Amino acid sequence: MVIVRAKDYQDMSRKAANIISAQVIMKPKAVLGLATGGTPVGTYAQLIDWYKKGDIDFSQITTINLDEYRGLPKTHEQSYWYFMHEQFFNHVNVDESRINVPDGMNPDSEKACREYDNVIREAGGIDLQLLGIGVDGHIGFNEPGNAFELETHCVDLTEQTIKSNQRFFGDGESVPKQAYTMGIKSIMQARKVLMVVNGKEKAEIVKKAFFGPVTPEIQASILQMHPDFTIVGDEEALSLI
Ligand code: F6R
Repeated sequence: MVIVRAKDYQDMSRKAANIISAQVIMKPKAVLGLATGGTPVGTYAQLIDWYKKGDIDFSQITTINLDEYRGLPKTHEQSYWYFMHEQFFNHVNVDESRINVPDGMNPDSEKACREYDNVIREAGGIDLQLLGIGVDGHIGFNEPGNAFELETHCVDLTEQTIKSNQRFFGDGESVPKQAYTMGIKSIMQARKVLMVVNGKEKAEIVKKAFFGPVTPEIQASILQMHPDFTIVGDEEALSLI
């Protein structure tokens, strides 16, 4: 585990973007596992900036996103497909045919999950998986207590996750109760894992997850066992370690 200390959110974003950029320069056909949420937005913005300056070319990469709400169409502003296009894909030269996000509208959840596992396998596995972390230690939508052995699966979201995501939905519009997520097994198979984390509300979970016991109650704690795991955190998030 490598811990990179950043001064603030912007510094964290730039350092993370540097690592992703190095991956893409060294392997133009890289398979990038991507995350949504607030934390990586600055990382995407930095990558877009470098793309516009001609410093990085995404034309040959494949992207595989971690998760998607079940029941939201791509066109819904809160779908992760929509988020990724708004925050990143629409601004760079990623080939649309190599963008992968779980299909939230597939009514056959078992089939949707197995198809997604095949997408990962056929791409040759993930070279670099970008992650954020929830205050309860979730990664993707892998909630506390989930088995570590799972590949892509459908989850019932916890009250905590529903509550913290409610801010993104309009008044009177409820957060979906289920989501598709890559499992811990799929994440652990990524050749490199990069976590971005910022803010003091994440300090406690960073300490528990990476300096406490490995337990399914804190899903991210399994990353202690990953052979190539880097955390880029700002001062606040790393203040207790
Ligand atoms: C999103 C995802 C989630 C987030 C986590 C942190 O694709 O996988 O696990 O990374 O909920 O979210 P933020 O960054 O909004 O604090």
